[in-house]
Amino acid sequence: MALRIGILNGGGDCAGLNAVTRGVLRGAEEYGLEVMAIKSGWAGLLDGEAERIRYSDFEALVGAGGTALLTSRTNPLKRKDGLRTISSNMKKMELHCLIAVGGDDTLGVAAELSKLGLNVIGVPKTIDNDLAGTDYSFGFFTAVDEAMHLIESLRTTGVSHGRVMVVEVMGRDAGWISAYAGTAAGANLVMVPEFETPLDKVVDVVKKRHREGKRGTVIVVAEGVRLVSREGTDRDEFGHELIAKTEGVSNASAIAKYIEEKTGIETRATVLGHVIRGTSPNAYDRVMTTMLGFRAVTAAKEGRFGIMVAIRGPGIVEVPLSEGSKKKYLDSETWNILSKFFV
Ligand code: F6P
Repeated sequence: MALRIGILNGGGDCAGLNAVTRGVLRGAEEYGLEVMAIKSGWAGLLDGEAERIRYSDFEALVGAGGTALLTSRTNPLKRKDGLRTISSNMKKMELHCLIAVGGDDTLGVAAELSKLGLNVIGVPKTIDNDLAGTDYSFGFFTAVDEAMHLIESLRTTGVSHGRVMVVEVMGRDAGWISAYAGTAAGANLVMVPEFETPLDKVVDVVKKRHREGKRGTVIVVAEGVRLVSREGTDRDEFGHELIAKTEGVSNASAIAKYIEEKTGIETRATVLGHVIRGTSPNAYDRVMTTMLGFRAVTAAKEGRFGIMVAIRGPGIVEVPLSEGSKKKYLDSETWNILSKFFV
């Protein structure tokens, strides 16, 4: 009987999840493995339900946003006997191994299962890009691209009206999305949780640009910047504040109001929210997820468990100028995987 692998997606969805599954399925086909879809993250495994999926089911989904496997924020560590239930369900379902695709919460559960001796492989995912161990998490660059285009649109209308435009982007406690999207869109100021931007500096930037006759100031603020008290709000099962459900004032609105009061310049607030998450993956995320999925199933086939497949590449370093005239071609390791998808 073919070895059977389970795959699940946990936490917030992001662009590229379907392409990971596609990569896993193509690899499974190559290696003669069976893949079971566990729907809605850990909830599906706690329920012990799964269905057989094949490459043909996901073949056309390389560019599809969201996740056909569905997802949830269910945390087995918060359920009585959650890990034990999962362990016994994996046995009942005859799963030789589980591929868990998710962020720190999902991978944290995966690590606990691995400690118990279960065969688990992680694939890091989150638009927030806040995961150690991988240079980038897939979904991030797509979210950045989407945010960049939307911020550019806000600049256009801001210039037309001579307004200050304050844009809030997701990222939970991290400022990666705001920093990258803000930079890419040429924002005039970016506020991130990791490094404080005093509000008087924000006002100074707005006033200076106004004095210089520059119209359409754009300020990008990460949702994680702590400006307004969120005490007493609900938390999800992993202990995170349910930001989207928080009643009251968004960072963008709070800052926009403050700027208008201090400068007298008309200011508008926009919260991009889930729009940057639900979109179709960009080229980078499509390729990396294809590779990650294939590599995850390769590790499973070769019996390497308790690992996570990760994107690792150089940051910015200084190299001899002569390196600039050397060519770099597609490597065979990459090609050997990608070519499996061409008919
Ligand atoms: O972790 C991904 C993320 O999109 C965060 O940027 C955001 O804070 C959170 O999820 C939103 O969660 P939900 O989709 O549950 O509202």
